[in-house]
Amino acid sequence: MSKSGTGTPTQWPKYVWLNGSIVRWEDAKVHVFVHGLHYGTGVFEGIRGYYDDEYIKVFRLEDHMRRMYRSAKIIYMDIPYPMEKLIEATVELIKANKFNTDVYIRPIAFRGLGGFGLRAMNPVEVAVVIIEFGKYLKPTGVKCGISSWRKPSPDSIPVYAKTTGIYLLSHLAAIEAHLNGYDEAILLDSEGYVAEGAGENIFIVKNSELITPPVYDGILEGITRDTVITLAREVLGLKVIERRIRREELYTCDEAFFTGTAAEVTPIVEIDGRTVGSGSVGEVTKSIMNTYRDATLGRIAKYRHWVREVEVEA
Ligand SMILES: Cc1ncc(COP(=O)(O)O)c(C=O)c1O
Repeated sequence: MSKSGTGTPTQWPKYVWLNGSIVRWEDAKVHVFVHGLHYGTGVFEGIRGYYDDEYIKVFRLEDHMRRMYRSAKIIYMDIPYPMEKLIEATVELIKANKFNTDVYIRPIAFRGLGGFGLRAMNPVEVAVVIIEFGKYLKPTGVKCGISSWRKPSPDSIPVYAKTTGIYLLSHLAAIEAHLNGYDEAILLDSEGYVAEGAGENIFIVKNSELITPPVYDGILEGITRDTVITLAREVLGLKVIERRIRREELYTCDEAFFTGTAAEVTPIVEIDGRTVGSGSVGEVTKSIMNTYRDATLGRIAKYRHWVREVEVEA
């Protein structure tokens, strides 16, 4: 089990996929002068795979890969493999590492060696790394603080793209939250409305209705967010409203929770020293957590297509 919020695995896997082939973990290296390291010119994804009876069940693999190619397009990057190749690489790597625990899958593409100038469009290097991974945030509920760092306005840097560079913001917000004694940060957008967590989208519950900021509000268009909206409407029959949320609404809502691949559905029990609702996991949040869990394991017939099963040797 990793230390909460740090994502540190207890052991590294044997193999990594790098630039077209599977290599040993210790050989998966790039040069110190790659452009992506200096300027954050990279795109990536975070995908979960759940170990279930000799299968790793990968959740919404294609949707994540599709987002990575969209992110790349936004930053003028051509990933030098078709998407199917990276999906195949992911499946091969799961099998090669013979995982028998839940895993986190990290495809990444970044500009490599060549020019060091700001307009250099260096050849793109690509890797897929898969690590053992347990819970990221406490499923019993987290305490949050509003960050002093804001999501940028839409005309400053593309937040719709999941780029490596923009994660400095999440890194700073998460450290600040930790230093202030919180489990996670909540960031406001450039106009002061609630945007999202450092690595999660956010929902509040009011009168059994779900409310979440719209995608134009400086947030990443989360795949877990989409999953939860779909399940809430289609399976649980709940009303979901996408609208701006004021900071005060966070303090006064009935329930609140984060959604994200790493965080899954994580209840929020305290914000800026105010107890959220009853201070324990609310009923709506509980039902969303359970339904989400069922969906990730392919136990909801209508959404079985979200799950890619990879058989692993016992
Ligand atoms: C800033 C940010 N927002 C939202 C999310 C949730 O996105 P997803 O559900 O696709 O993992 C993430 C996680 O990657 C994130 O880093």
